[in-house]
Order: sequence, then C-alpha cells, then structure tokens
Amino acid sequence: MWKCTNCHHVELGSVKPESCPLCGAEAEKLVLHEVPGIKGEKTLQNLKAGFVAESQANLRNLAFAMKAEQEGYPQMARLFRAVAEAEAVHAFHHLRLLGGISGTQENMESAFEKENLASNAYPGFIKEANEEDNPHVARIFGYSRDVERGHARLYSKALDHMVSDVDTEYYVCGICGYVSDGVLPDECPICGASKEKFRKVV
Ligand SMILES: [Fe+2]
Ligand SMILES: [Fe+2]
Ligand SMILES: [Zn+2]
Ligand SMILES: [Zn+2]
Repeated sequence: MWKCTNCHHVELGSVKPESCPLCGAEAEKLVLHEVPGIKGEKTLQNLKAGFVAESQANLRNLAFAMKAEQEGYPQMARLFRAVAEAEAVHAFHHLRLLGGISGTQENMESAFEKENLASNAYPGFIKEANEEDNPHVARIFGYSRDVERGHARLYSKALDHMVSDVDTEYYVCGICGYVSDGVLPDECPICGASKEKFRKVV
C-alpha cells in the first residue's frame, strides 16, 4: 500500500496510483507503506472493510439510542449505547492494526487535511442535490461545507500551540456541527441556533 506524504492518506493496493486519491498530490509524494505485523493484501482490505462497518454500526446504534430516548424507552437506549460502545472497541482494533493511529502531531496534521478535503467535497454534493431537486439535502450538506473548514482551522490553531499548555474549552452546535473554541456563543454563527443547542465537550 501507499502513503501520501502530503496528507498522510493510506491507499491500499500493490499498484502505485498516479496521484493521491484524497488530496491529489502527484505520484512522487506517494511512498511505499507497509503495515508492521500484517502480511498480504486481503487481510488489509478486510481490516479496512471491518473498520468501516464497525464505525457505521457504532454511529447507527448511537442514533437508535437517541430515538429510543425520545420514544421513552430508556432501557432500549442503554442497550443501543452498550452495543455501540462494543462496536467502537472493534473499530479501534481494526484502525490500530491498519496503522491508522500515529502520534498526536501526525494525527492532528492528518485530521486537518481530512477536514479540508471534506469541506472541498461538499460544494459538488450541494450542486448535485439541487440538480436532483433535493433542497432539504442541499441545506444539510451546506452545514458541512460551512463547518468543516472551521474544524480544520481549529486543528491548525491547536498545532501551533501544541507545546504551550493552552487550556481551551470547546462547544459543539447540535444542529450544524459548528465548533466554538473558548466561548459559548449566544447564537450559532453558521445556522443561527440558540446557545441551548450547544454542548460543552468534556
Ligand atoms: Fe462488532
Ligand atoms: Fe469535520
Ligand atoms: Zn494525499
Ligand atoms: Zn449551528
């Protein structure tokens, strides 16, 4: 497999891609990458598939738990959360074995790149949602487009301060995913939600 020295993306496969499929960096930025302790391409593919499936199961169960709470089934909600946590345990194992967890500095750089790439993907998604007459979907994609760039900024800001011990609190908008650092805003600057919609991250 191949690792992009620009964005840290890891691409499976024995044939070198012409450019990084994630950030588009030219082929010379891609270096041969071996995952220590893993032999063979199929096991790698399966680890990746397992990671995707377990991550989805984690999130789906958390969503089901929220619904169960709303419908007045706290016991079912607890069960969904318990299984969600178990799926996260599996997903963490897969990601670790894939070599997807580096040191914090590299993880921050890689998270920064991924946020930028995510925000670049959304204008196209919005256009296609509108072309197919799905304005409600376009609106939700718009939240991501407007917010991912801010996530990237938070990472780059934090990278600058990694050595100095700055203590920052973060508040997440439950409507659009905007992350505010340091202050709880009166109103979300992206979607206009009131401050009650924000959750402080512990
Ligand atoms: Fe699982
Ligand atoms: Fe993000
Ligand atoms: Zn790349
Ligand atoms: Zn918001």
